[in-house]
Amino acid sequence: MSVLEKLSSADAIALEDKYGAHNYHPLPVVLSRGEGVYVWDAEGKRYYDFLSAYSAVNQGHCHPKIVNALVSQAQTLTLTSRAFYNDQLGRYEEFITGYFGFDKVLPMNTGAEAVETAIKLCRKWAYEKKGIAEHEAKIVVCENNFHGRTTTIISFSNDENARKNFGPYTAGFIKIPYDDTKALEDVLKSEKNIAGFLVEPIQGEAGVYVPQEGYLARAKQLCEQHNVLFIADEVQTGIARTGKLLAVHHEDVTPDILILGKALSGGAYPVSAVLANDAVMNVIKPGQHGSTFGGNPIAAAVAIAALEVVEEERLAENAERLGRLFRERLGEYVAKSNIVSLVRGKGLLNAIVINDTEDSSTAWDICMAMKENGLLAKPTHGNIIRFAPPLVMNEEQLLDCVRIITQTLEDFEQ
Ligand SMILES: Cc1ncc(COP(=O)(O)O)c(C=O)c1O
Repeated sequence: MSVLEKLSSADAIALEDKYGAHNYHPLPVVLSRGEGVYVWDAEGKRYYDFLSAYSAVNQGHCHPKIVNALVSQAQTLTLTSRAFYNDQLGRYEEFITGYFGFDKVLPMNTGAEAVETAIKLCRKWAYEKKGIAEHEAKIVVCENNFHGRTTTIISFSNDENARKNFGPYTAGFIKIPYDDTKALEDVLKSEKNIAGFLVEPIQGEAGVYVPQEGYLARAKQLCEQHNVLFIADEVQTGIARTGKLLAVHHEDVTPDILILGKALSGGAYPVSAVLANDAVMNVIKPGQHGSTFGGNPIAAAVAIAALEVVEEERLAENAERLGRLFRERLGEYVAKSNIVSLVRGKGLLNAIVINDTEDSSTAWDICMAMKENGLLAKPTHGNIIRFAPPLVMNEEQLLDCVRIITQTLEDFEQ
């Protein structure tokens, strides 16, 4: 079939089904265009995007400034590899380190790669700076974490689906309950050889679990006391999503290692990054880590544009204001609902918990009905539906979305 031929939704789904690995279970909607907070399917029906490609499209679909940066750089120089310098990378490195307040950045492409990078960086620091004996370093992680899909990362997941039959697993991780500073304190006291604590400031994939206030600040303090690196995975929560530039900023925490991805490009290109100060980052020497595409000129130009949009359009402030409104309005609904037991979140990273068993199909059925009504969202785990629209949404659009969501939910009330 020619790539120029216009496909119906049914045809596009059939092609993916036949020729693609079945590693996802998408909602049956085929998108062919996006602009701002909207996407259109192959038949031209318009939807509000309430997932934003898992918080990658914070700046809205096809943001003109980001697309212009992409196109213009693509017409000039796309890839050099790091065998040579390129005239965009240094500029970007200066920009992003200033933007987030770190000495140095290590550029990668996907979120999982950036997490892998942070793990390697932390281990190397532990051996070369902290003085842990080789192969003995351990990294503390949290139960129900989601950090990506590589073999090492799934080694410390407790999602059986993500792990089963992918072993043998990478050693060197200790899992503790999330949002539990006592558990962190205990492990830091009882275990020797701890190099780092890797944490999501809000557990997005697990169902938008927001920790108690003070958790991140106390965890950072404990890490400092024990000379352990505090590693924040802000791949999903970062870049204005939760109402601040970074979710750790809600508690004035500066991580020792910051992991970013997704919205670093506004969804236009795979761009991820690990940021740290010299005392940590300088343990990496030539030949010890890298990626052919990491730091390529397109990524550099796109990321600068994407971060400028966040500031110019005050997306963090918008996410904070609209997030409050969203939880307030949905909260009013939840108070009289049988089908939804709660709404939670920060900024425009929110979720509702459906009042049904974890393995019921109710959350999926609600997402299917919302799709019919013009809004796209997806269950995270079991009976939890995540709501994460592009941050360029305005109040009128948000209230329209609240109307679609609540009217859909009403049909599921007994
Ligand atoms: C917190 C977090 N870390 C890492 C990742 C992995 O990112 P990627 O899918 O780009 O590898 C994700 C993806 O959802 C994430 O939410």
